Amino acid sequence: MKYGHFDDSKREYVITNPRTPYPWINYLGCEDFFSIITNTAGGYSFYKDARLRRLTRYRYNNVPVDDGGKYFYINENGKVWSPGWKPVKTELDHYECRHGMGYSIVKGEVDQLEAEVTYMVPIGYKGEVQKIKLTNQSDRKRSFSLFSFVEWCLWDALDDGSNFQRNFSTGQVEIVDSTIYHKTEYRERRDHYAFYTVNEKIDGLDTDRDSFLGLYNGFDAPDAVTERQSRNSHAHGWSPIASHHLQIELEPGEEKQLVFVLGYVEVPVEDKFVENQVINKAPAEQMIAQFQTAADVDRAMDKLAKFWDDLLSVYQLEHPEEELNRAVNIWNQYQCMVTFNFSRSASFFESGIGRGMGFRDSNQDLIGFVHQVPDRARERIIDIASTQFEDGSAYHQYQPLTKKGNDAVGSNFNDDPLWLILAIDEYIKETGDWSILEEMVPFDNDESNTATLFEHMKRSFYHVVNNLGPHKLPLIGRADWNDCLNLNCHSETPGESFQTTENGEGGVAESVFIAGMFVLYGDAFEKLCLKLGKDKEAEVAAGHIADMKKVVDQHGWDGEWFIRAYDHYGEKVGSDEQEEGKIFIESQGMCIMAGIGLEDGRARKALDSVKERLDCEYGIVLNNPAFTKYIVKYGEISSYPEGYKENAGIFCHNNPWIMISETLAGNGDAAWDYFRKICPPYLEEISDLHKTEPYVYSQMIAGKDAQKPGEAKNSWLTGTAAWNFYAISQYILGIRPDFDGLKINPVIPGKWEGYKVTRKFRGATYKIEVTNPAFVSSGVKELFLNGAKLEGTVIPICEAGSENMVKVVMG
Ligand code: GLC
Ligand code: GLC
Repeated sequence: MKYGHFDDSKREYVITNPRTPYPWINYLGCEDFFSIITNTAGGYSFYKDARLRRLTRYRYNNVPVDDGGKYFYINENGKVWSPGWKPVKTELDHYECRHGMGYSIVKGEVDQLEAEVTYMVPIGYKGEVQKIKLTNQSDRKRSFSLFSFVEWCLWDALDDGSNFQRNFSTGQVEIVDSTIYHKTEYRERRDHYAFYTVNEKIDGLDTDRDSFLGLYNGFDAPDAVTERQSRNSHAHGWSPIASHHLQIELEPGEEKQLVFVLGYVEVPVEDKFVENQVINKAPAEQMIAQFQTAADVDRAMDKLAKFWDDLLSVYQLEHPEEELNRAVNIWNQYQCMVTFNFSRSASFFESGIGRGMGFRDSNQDLIGFVHQVPDRARERIIDIASTQFEDGSAYHQYQPLTKKGNDAVGSNFNDDPLWLILAIDEYIKETGDWSILEEMVPFDNDESNTATLFEHMKRSFYHVVNNLGPHKLPLIGRADWNDCLNLNCHSETPGESFQTTENGEGGVAESVFIAGMFVLYGDAFEKLCLKLGKDKEAEVAAGHIADMKKVVDQHGWDGEWFIRAYDHYGEKVGSDEQEEGKIFIESQGMCIMAGIGLEDGRARKALDSVKERLDCEYGIVLNNPAFTKYIVKYGEISSYPEGYKENAGIFCHNNPWIMISETLAGNGDAAWDYFRKICPPYLEEISDLHKTEPYVYSQMIAGKDAQKPGEAKNSWLTGTAAWNFYAISQYILGIRPDFDGLKINPVIPGKWEGYKVTRKFRGATYKIEVTNPAFVSSGVKELFLNGAKLEGTVIPICEAGSENMVKVVMG
């Protein structure tokens, strides 16, 4: 069952039934100011950091689901409704929510009165702009009240949701005409405030929540709205809000547009006040002046569309299947921008107060984003590397506002450092900007202790070399990519953190996954050294990599697949010897991507085992058989019921590793089959089962051992976005940036006839046409650049600004 449809020409998903199986959200904002918005106008806003600088309040896991947001209420002769259906939930004659690139349009109609609200964050603006268009479609005069509503958060979202003894006495606002200023804590150490305004004279307002709602009412029935009478309340403590009241009359056919702005302002400390208790409003007034008319908003919408035209134009596909086009050209790339911006901080499953930017996550997110805005990717690489320790190890996460590492979920996840090499390698291949390696970058954010980025990368490499275990495999530390395989943590205490408790004495557990990763990204390090003329460095690295390959051959192969790890007691994890968890996906993907076993048949065997044991209707599960008992020595993994999350869930992040492995083994049909299974637009028809948005990937789909296979959770913020884009664009469609050009190597289903890709690369445009006259899965028979036949499979870098025709004939 579907709840809407794609409108590809507008790059929108159009929801036509407000009762989606879960709130279906969108993100507004591309730079510093962000909002999360649901299809019924729920959600919240923040500046840079969803925990430390939250502007509006939101209650997660609320009852009913998704209560609280940027609401509008209409009261016409006692009939009260909201354009987005919620919170009032009056049945609408017509409802529609259009989630687009950086904006959402929510529209409702009752008795031929139509209200359409456009929510957006303009480029370069620290605020959310809302344009509401009210249209009288009937032939009689209408007279009604419009109320706006937002609830302020007292900035630190964690404190806001827990420290009521203080917070109920600190709230402060100021009111000038139609503008409500939220200034809690501004009198002391904060130098920022927020405001909510409308471009018209108002007929009333409220800033105190209980006065507006009535203490015992929900958002669905505020007293002020029901009675068409604002209280003109001035909040002192308790819960400050902002609500405007406008009385509106519309002649038959008449339309009226209003502009609301929710803004964020920072003021230099010396200019904070104009007089005692009176805040300096000049910066807010400047912001407000920019959005005085509906036309101002329309211009900002055009600019936003242009911004996305440019970003998405870097990689555009023309393929016979529209589902694939919309995934590649629109939604997957859009999601990559979102994961780049938010890492794992704020979604409808990440509360914004837990994890900030993940070290490993952000490095991986970058590979799906670097082609869009390479400058920001560059800055991000430096930010991440700045949190690294001198010995090459890393904090597991850092806070977006301060950019400082924190060990709230521990550190010493021993795969972390290697992901930095992946990010740097992909950045240089995309941009050719070798200068990044000479940047001086601090350790642990200590500006007095810096080294070149090259040195950081080298420390990442040697962190593995310096931390080998009894089999000479890499020590796993707290965990590797799988946060829940905590082999040095033996927890029998309820509530103890699996990520910070490390009580396996000596911590000798080892990871075959990191071994594969070391071969893969170690090789990237070696190649970078060679390119830089550091031959000696490269030679030494090559020696370590060769040694690691031997160790994997000796201790990493189980007979039909790659072993996953060795536990604290030296026993194999992910081996046929075990009763449950005989095979894990991660080491298959990583070892084969590293090329291990491709020549001697082991890769094929391992991939066949994946197909046989891990694959199911909805994707590839993480391990099999699922754990049915809690295994103390494995940490968190078997704490999950079978079929969910890291215990045999379809953890979509690592499915593309198998897709890529299949392409390396030349099997385009299998790669495509895996891709299609989890690719959101192909799942639209099963939206009621899948539950999460049909336009973005989710972290996890319940696996074959779960109670409800196919049901997804954790949409949006997942490495799945970057990895699937990487797999489809670079390995299946086969267009890979390389140091000296674009490498072309499609590995596709044998029945495909061909496709076209427009790729912008290093300033030039390449119009690539792939044809498959012999219906093969892989192999480039002929390659032409502007009519001239090329040797090999790399298109050289063409002059910036040029447009080039590339013909690829497979065979
Ligand atoms: C979560 C984490 C990611 C980890 C994965 C598997 O998605 O963000 O870092 O690799 O879980 O445990
Ligand atoms: C839990 C989750 C895992 C996530 C981790 C982050 O263990 O299962 O997916 O990466 O928390 O701390």
